[in-house]
Formats: sequence, C-alpha cells, structure tokens
Amino acid sequence: MEQQVLEKYIESGKIAKEVVEWSKNLIRPDAKILDVVETIEGRIKEKNAQIAFPVNISINSIAAHSTPAWNDVSVIGESVVKIDIGVAVEGYIADIAYTVDLTGKYAKMLDANKAALENALKILKPNLKISEIGKVIEETIKSYGYKPIENLTGHQIAQYVLHAGLSIPNVHINSNQTLTEDMVIAIEPFVTNGIGTVIETNKCEIYSLMQIKPVRMTEERNLLKDIEARKSMPFAKRWFSRTIKETNLNLILQDMVNRNIIRKHRMFREKSDGIVSQFEHTVIITKDGAVITTL
Ligand code: CO
Repeated sequence: MEQQVLEKYIESGKIAKEVVEWSKNLIRPDAKILDVVETIEGRIKEKNAQIAFPVNISINSIAAHSTPAWNDVSVIGESVVKIDIGVAVEGYIADIAYTVDLTGKYAKMLDANKAALENALKILKPNLKISEIGKVIEETIKSYGYKPIENLTGHQIAQYVLHAGLSIPNVHINSNQTLTEDMVIAIEPFVTNGIGTVIETNKCEIYSLMQIKPVRMTEERNLLKDIEARKSMPFAKRWFSRTIKETNLNLILQDMVNRNIIRKHRMFREKSDGIVSQFEHTVIITKDGAVITTL
C-alpha cells in the first residue's frame, strides 16, 4: 500500500477511535437519540474528517441501518444500544461499532461479541480463507450460548466505498475466497439471543448514490450536487430536512430511487425480535498479519 494511503487510513482510524471513546458518555437512558447522533456527527466534522455514513444507532432488536429522522423525539431508554460510526479522511474509511447495555442483563452477550471479534482479528493474514473468519466468529459466539446474525456481514472497504467487493461472513460458510495483502476490511460480528436472522423493515432514513442522471427541479439538483461530493458514501435523509420541505424531500428521494440514481438502505430488525449486539473494527491486511486502524 502506498505510504500516503496508509497514513490516511491510520488517521481516519485514529479519529474514529477518539470519537467512539468520547461518545460513550452520551449513551444514557434519558438521552435523545437524535441529539446523540447529531453530536457525534458534529464531533467528526470538528476533527475535519468526513462522515463516511450517517451515525447509526440501533436499539434492542434493531440491528443495522438505523438513524433517526430529523424530528425524532425518542430517547434511548433502558436498552441495548449499538453505535456504528464511519469516519473518512480523503475518502479512506474507518468503520467502528460498539454496544452499550443499559439494562444490565446482557453482559454475557456483549462478552461473547467482543471475544468473537478479538478471535477473528487474531487470525487475519494474507491467504486466509474468509470461511475461517466466519467459523471462528460462529464458534466463539455459540460457545457462550448465543447466535451470530447469519445474514449480516463485515465487508471490504475502498476509497469512498463502504462496501467494496468482499463480504466477511459471521458464520461458517462455504467459500474459497481469501484475504490478500493491502486489503482493507471491516469485521463486525452481530450477536443475538433470537434466531439469528435479520429482516428488512419498511423504515428508511439512509440512502446512497448509484449513478448520476440529469434532474430538473432546482432543489433536486442541489441535493444531487451534495450527494455527488460524497461519491457513494451513504447519507441521511435528515441531513436535508432543514433546507427542503418534508413533502418535497419525500418526492425528490422517491423520484431518485425510481430512476436508480440513489438506493435505499432500509432498517434491519432481528426476525424473532431478539436482542442484538455488535462490535466492529477496521483492519488493513499486511504482509504477515493485520493492522487494526480503529484500535
Ligand atoms: Co461496517
């Protein structure tokens, strides 16, 4: 990997880690969800980094792709809270997530999740089969009496691309795909006391660009310009709710979805309403192992 590129990945990882540590104080039962995400996103901007994707905050059986609407008034409550943060420096992304158990009932589940992530990180090196990563994660989680979410995966990362190519399984799958030197990947096991599957809900607050096409309305053109600057890094609907009226924004987004300009990232929920936890780190595969950028 080019030295310059490596430095950007290390820098975004460092910022992401700092933001994570700083954000842990914000996660309290009486905290408003919207305040928490906006405060964290503000912190990323203060550090002159890019928000690689809207801060995700997923409560209890909500597993992923969850960020509040601009007018959300809900509080965190006594729940199991996942915070997933993406930071980019010149498009070089660090993706990191952690879980806080405010119920006091799921310490063992979080232990299982941390152990699964640690065990996976330990074995990373070039030529390792991704099936081995899934195997280690699944075995670790099951040894604690829980289940991994089988249809959520880690992922390869590239400049401005959050999900590039390879998916990193959280269960033992049949695959001959392997890691290679210089690959950047996010490892993110999800643990549940439910059946271990997520389903898509109808709720959607996150979108990303697919392809640029001409649009007519001024508001739509301006929105597209803002999105374009982010390349394919996801954005939140609420980011535009202060400048575009709700009814217009809904029409614009729907039009862009219909024309395959943008795609929806709908919220995922555990199918059996099980409680879900998540821990994640980003790593660069090196000649003889791996460097964790977010540690
Ligand atoms: Co990720």
